[in-house]
Amino acid sequence: MCGIAGYIGPREAIAIVFDQITRLEYRGYDSAGVAFQREGGIGILKKAGKLVNLKQLLETEKPVSHLAIAHSRWATHGGPTDENAHPHFDQHDRIAVIHNGIIENYFELAQELSAEGHVFVSETDTEIAAHVIGREYEKSGCLTAAVREAAKRLKGAYAMVVLSVDDPNRIVAVRNASPLVLGLGEGENFLASDIPALLPYTRKVIVMDEGDLATLSREGITLEDGNGEEKTPEVMTIDWDIEAAEKGGFPHFMIKEIHEQPESVRACLAGRLQHDGSVKLLNTLPDDVWRRTERVTMVACGTAYHAGLMGAYLIESMLRIPVEVEYASEFRYNNPILRETDLAIVISQSGETADTLAALKLAKSRGVATLGIVNVVGSSIARECDAVHYLQAGPEISVASTKAYSGQVVTLALAALYAAQVRGVSTDLAASLALLPTRMAETLCVEEQCLSIAKLIRDTQLMFYLGRGADAAAALEGALKMKEIAYVATQESPAGEMKHGPLALVEPGVVAVFGSTDPVTRDKVVSNIKEVKARRGTVIGIGLDHPMMRNVCDEFIPIPDTGSHVVNAALSVLPMQLLAYHLAHLRGCEIDQPRNLAKSVTVE
Ligand code: F6R
Repeated sequence: MCGIAGYIGPREAIAIVFDQITRLEYRGYDSAGVAFQREGGIGILKKAGKLVNLKQLLETEKPVSHLAIAHSRWATHGGPTDENAHPHFDQHDRIAVIHNGIIENYFELAQELSAEGHVFVSETDTEIAAHVIGREYEKSGCLTAAVREAAKRLKGAYAMVVLSVDDPNRIVAVRNASPLVLGLGEGENFLASDIPALLPYTRKVIVMDEGDLATLSREGITLEDGNGEEKTPEVMTIDWDIEAAEKGGFPHFMIKEIHEQPESVRACLAGRLQHDGSVKLLNTLPDDVWRRTERVTMVACGTAYHAGLMGAYLIESMLRIPVEVEYASEFRYNNPILRETDLAIVISQSGETADTLAALKLAKSRGVATLGIVNVVGSSIARECDAVHYLQAGPEISVASTKAYSGQVVTLALAALYAAQVRGVSTDLAASLALLPTRMAETLCVEEQCLSIAKLIRDTQLMFYLGRGADAAAALEGALKMKEIAYVATQESPAGEMKHGPLALVEPGVVAVFGSTDPVTRDKVVSNIKEVKARRGTVIGIGLDHPMMRNVCDEFIPIPDTGSHVVNAALSVLPMQLLAYHLAHLRGCEIDQPRNLAKSVTVE
């Protein structure tokens, strides 16, 4: 996701903040920029693309300053262009702002500001925030007060850093949910969105709390809480090394990304799922397309395909529209039957998967409406689709996909809800989705249990992943995680299929993971579990807590109920991710870059 850096002090500030955002490069970004105090005002230099582009611009312009802020942007509102790159000015070019996160009410604020004559030069929510701060600054003439007042108007998760032309010795920073850390030096001070950017300069850091507002000068840092009350900062001394810090203290990106899911799903829902259960979607297809759609075809590969299966359950059960989920590599060569009233949904984390892109082009060539469910903004698939819904999951670095999977399921669920709204179908899915971030955080508490189960099954050679309905789709994803990072052979299928062949493989030492998140099929699943137990296989159950499941399974991992079988099934994938991760770790596997696999498959 985006990176933030800031410095005030006697040293050359631009070189320092540039170095700081270079240290955040691993987070992913697609444009970057700096703002700095100079004779006669604030200078801004920014460039789309990699940091090397900004570096060239800095080498040409050679700015010098004692105070600078820098930002690397991962596009959300508006594509990765020079104009959309941060920093952004206010209406009078007197306030400069960089920002991580999303201003959920930016549209409403933009309308309000436009009515007052404000003109915007970018498509970003950040520029709107800069104008809101600028408007407050006109009233009070105090930068800290202007940021404090403006923050009251901003809804969403954000970390924001602000400079004023009139106050060349001050940086003001505010955070709400998105992280921001301050670094203390001698006669100099720093800030960053993440600790690794501070570590070469200082190990004394203050982690800002939710709602905190900080004012930095050379001499020191003052901190106030969300109510404007001054507070004494808690200074921590960091003793991690830089590599560990990039992973936020986690040993691997995969486990960091597993734990990011409550937040990434929250970001995905933010501004889209309203309190009354209705859905607002930017950049979606015209309502007319949602209304006339008679059949949906989803195309994707790997984990994205598994997310598509979950989406299919949701759309078919809610809208009663037939859905086909196709492997992109098959679809493109199968001369698919497509009609004008079809909708093609193309799912891809990277937005660059060659087969998925080819499938999309084929669907377009047949005149079918296309919708992308994509994580990487401005990627090829995002650009080619008629409309795109972004996952808002932030960059996924581990090759094994985790937070993109949950983001894809939730983005598909939002699309299904939107279609239901347009078509006048009533559903209670919204309530389950609203609960999901909290339920995910609760579910992740089973990590210790997953670790002890991983120890018990450490030497297993074969695992079954089984379930019914949406649990069968979850089983496919759980099995994929296990084979790709722990290199355990797996056999996955709907639980009822087992006795038609695969059961022959069950013997002592074989482990079967059964999902059971639907009370309606629980009895049937229990019968299938008994078939495995009768052949002395080991059974791990994952699902809604029930005495029958606890009784029949060797190990049982409970997940909380969201009220929707499909959402529950997607939730049950989290313990499967944790199980695969811990087994891989115990077996000494290369977790973030498993053998033979690549993050973005841009070849057929
Ligand atoms: C598995 C995994 C892959 C991808 C697949 C599609 O953990 O990451 O199976 O899901 O290669 O990639 P995207 O979503 O980028 O099109």
